[in-house]
Amino acid sequence: MYLSRSAEWSALESHYQDISHQAMIDLFSTDPNRHERFSLSFNAIHLDYSKNRISARTMELLMDLVRRSGIEKKRRQMFEGEQINFTEHRSVLHTALRRPPGYTMTIDGDDVASEVSDVLDQMKAFCKKVISGEWKGYTGKRITDVVNIGIGGSDLGPYMVTEALKPFAHGKLRVHFVSNVDGSHLAETLRGLNPETTLFIIASKTFTTQETLTNAISARAWFLVKAGNRDHVAKHFVAVSTNREKVEEFGIDSANMFRFWDWVGGRYSLWSAIGLSIALYLGFDRFSELLAGAHAMDEHFLNAPLEANMPVILAMLGIWYNNFFGSHSQAIIPYDQYLHRFPAYLQQLDMESNGKRVDRVGRETDYATGPVIWGEPGTNAQHAFFQLLHQGPEIIPVDFIVSLKSQNPIGEHHDMLVANCFAQSEALMRGKSEAAARGELEAAGYSGIDLKMLLPHKLFPGNRPTNTIVLDELNPFNLGSLIALYEHKVFVQGVVWNINSFDQWGVELGKQLAKAILPEFEADSPVEGHDASTNALVNRYRQVRKTRQPLNRDQLTLF
Ligand code: F6P
Repeated sequence: MYLSRSAEWSALESHYQDISHQAMIDLFSTDPNRHERFSLSFNAIHLDYSKNRISARTMELLMDLVRRSGIEKKRRQMFEGEQINFTEHRSVLHTALRRPPGYTMTIDGDDVASEVSDVLDQMKAFCKKVISGEWKGYTGKRITDVVNIGIGGSDLGPYMVTEALKPFAHGKLRVHFVSNVDGSHLAETLRGLNPETTLFIIASKTFTTQETLTNAISARAWFLVKAGNRDHVAKHFVAVSTNREKVEEFGIDSANMFRFWDWVGGRYSLWSAIGLSIALYLGFDRFSELLAGAHAMDEHFLNAPLEANMPVILAMLGIWYNNFFGSHSQAIIPYDQYLHRFPAYLQQLDMESNGKRVDRVGRETDYATGPVIWGEPGTNAQHAFFQLLHQGPEIIPVDFIVSLKSQNPIGEHHDMLVANCFAQSEALMRGKSEAAARGELEAAGYSGIDLKMLLPHKLFPGNRPTNTIVLDELNPFNLGSLIALYEHKVFVQGVVWNINSFDQWGVELGKQLAKAILPEFEADSPVEGHDASTNALVNRYRQVRKTRQPLNRDQLTLF
């Protein structure tokens, strides 16, 4: 039966009619325990979800809906390695990457626990050599810079984590990330780097991704301009992949390959060898703490009752707004500069997972699925798009993320940061009434037509929902838990929406068409095989391209 025709869905629809006119501020006034009722802590993470358009009844109904979806069974199936990614016939086992050894599970003939621990050992030994300087470049110098070349899940997670955990880096290595096929990304990254002391990690699950291979080939050319001898590549290029054959074809010695498995989705792969750049930058012990934090959240997700289960609560609140209030987007606002890539990371995690409009049996859904995820750190965001959050026509739920402890406690900075974070959720909830706005205008000397004209612009509707996630401190363990929290939130939503959160067929068509267009730039005569718009765009580029002088091999040193 369609989700939207279930009794649980209908119950929420009629409950929405009851609650949609209630003001959160009144709910706070009538219930002194509202914060205790609607907040929970797990280890160093506190989730305050009391500033939501909910009552105890709402949560009961949302829990009925999640139960109806069979979440407990599906959760078990994921953790036990069943092929829940049925369109790709794959298990979904990123949780095994952070699970302490000593369990038994076999997938595709692999003993999962021992495979995972073998690769972790390999990563550990490699990190030790590179960080200590025992691993030498081709002229005998130690490595100073690591460049991770990857895209999507082979970039966003490691990039986000290394930015988030900068204060925990050991400082012996710098780390850089190149993802875009735009040559400017590679050129700007390599400018100023020394091939003698640079290590490239080519990170690609498939090792067929156009952007990554193109960047890898250009990086190798840049390296060889100075290094000369192809034998030196072995000391400066390592690969992380599931595809040994393609790695060898590229010319990377399989001894320098760190493997992972089909049962790790790209956007869930930072816990695998894809996290090598993290482990190098922070040291393997810190990487292990990140894994431990994620595992702790896995245990919470597996064992806590649904009503007290952080990922389940976040997921169901998202569904409440997406499907019953008609909110089409969700803002993620970390009040923490170190988390500046967290919204971008979550975009892939959430939108590539749940941006699907066909359910598990192939029917088009008649309900909304994945919302648009977006955001930037506060307080910057306040001076950019908060206008829309406060006074725009649509309700956009917000997750605020803030740490109690600053890594850089300079003067009053952290107090100000935290005050702004708390003030924003309060302002979004309270709004400003007509009486209050009128009073302020009168106090400022306005009256008559001037006051009347200005008044509507000064009103804040309020009643806008937010979650506040408070970390004791942003450290490797807590970040691991935070990421896993969102992974499981996305999983729960996918289960309720009855979609496959683990494939990504929607990225294929554009890739196919780009492959067809690329050779057309070299065609002698104007291209005519597309629609008029695409033909014109291709031909316009062909004209300019004729006059372009690509860099030759020697000029690559100009990077
Ligand atoms: O194009 C989307 C995608 O397949 C993502 O799912 C993946 O994270 C990314 O490309 C990179 O893929 P790979 O690691 O195989 O290069």
